Amino acid sequence: MTNAQQPSFLQRPRRNRKSASVRDMVRETRISPQNLVLPLFVRDGTGQQEAIKSMPGVFRLSPDLLVRKAATAHELGVPAVALFPVIAEDFKDQRASESANPDGLLQRTVAQLKGRIPSLTVITDVAMDPYSCDGHDGVYCNGQVDNDATLPILAEMAVSQARAGADIVAPSDMMDGRVGYIRRALEQEGYSDIGILAYSAKYASAFYGPFREALDSAPRSGDKKTYQMDPANSREAQREVALDIAEGADMVMVKPALPYLDVIAAVRAASTVPVAAYSVSGEYAMIRMAAQAGCLDETAAMTECLLAIKRAGADCILTYFAEEMARVLNG
Ligand code: PBG
Repeated sequence: MTNAQQPSFLQRPRRNRKSASVRDMVRETRISPQNLVLPLFVRDGTGQQEAIKSMPGVFRLSPDLLVRKAATAHELGVPAVALFPVIAEDFKDQRASESANPDGLLQRTVAQLKGRIPSLTVITDVAMDPYSCDGHDGVYCNGQVDNDATLPILAEMAVSQARAGADIVAPSDMMDGRVGYIRRALEQEGYSDIGILAYSAKYASAFYGPFREALDSAPRSGDKKTYQMDPANSREAQREVALDIAEGADMVMVKPALPYLDVIAAVRAASTVPVAAYSVSGEYAMIRMAAQAGCLDETAAMTECLLAIKRAGADCILTYFAEEMARVLNG
């Protein structure tokens, strides 16, 4: 008969968890502010800070306040920001003409950011939706998104952003062939050092709702399912990633992040370029609002989710929690 003090097993995983110092020593994944990218919404004006109902704590900022916000995050160790412009209805049209305006809101903001904080990496979004009166990422005609008619518009937008000083352009539109098209346009205009972060595996997700409120960019009719990916698909993500890398993407992205950890892991395993993950507006809202309702410890839930995304294989994470997470990490 076995003695209660002499169990029949010798393996005790709990030995590696017995104290904070042992846990620290054997921790497999760490997150640091350097892994984080802060997405920011820019609106026109000065001294303007406008709340977004579905994203408590996130604001549409005028360029002056946005520069301050970016500086604070950068001082905390966040290397990069990703910019999204809020375009007034009067400036929207079917061809997203405003997106290539050298004096446009986005271009002016990029220039100010790079002027004031040269060491900050500025990532700009390449897609028509903030500028389109149809709210689609491509040219919308007779109920269809026209892939090839969209490509020159995206290329012009990307070149305009590079000219304004963007370090990395990030096509989020999911048109076929756009990475190669943009790459060639950048080379032609002398921007061979401007990187492309491709939103390669971008899913047609319900978690973009709050973002579309922030930019007032929801599709006016139809949905985005003919260009964004079906949430049911994983192998297709590999195909998208392989194509984007072949076309010249310097980094690839999976978006959203939390419901797609398996995709992040698969993309990480199959490619050698850096992998980014976008923890989108709906992921932020879920945690923030549950915490505000007293259902979650916000700091713990935020930390756990971002760590999980890193553990799955993301090298960097776009998150609206970037500043808050960096503060926690800096103690
Ligand atoms: C569109 C774009 C979207 C997001 C980033 N770029 C929304 C969409 O595809 O409708 C969503 C980001 C978020 O939800 O935080 N080009």
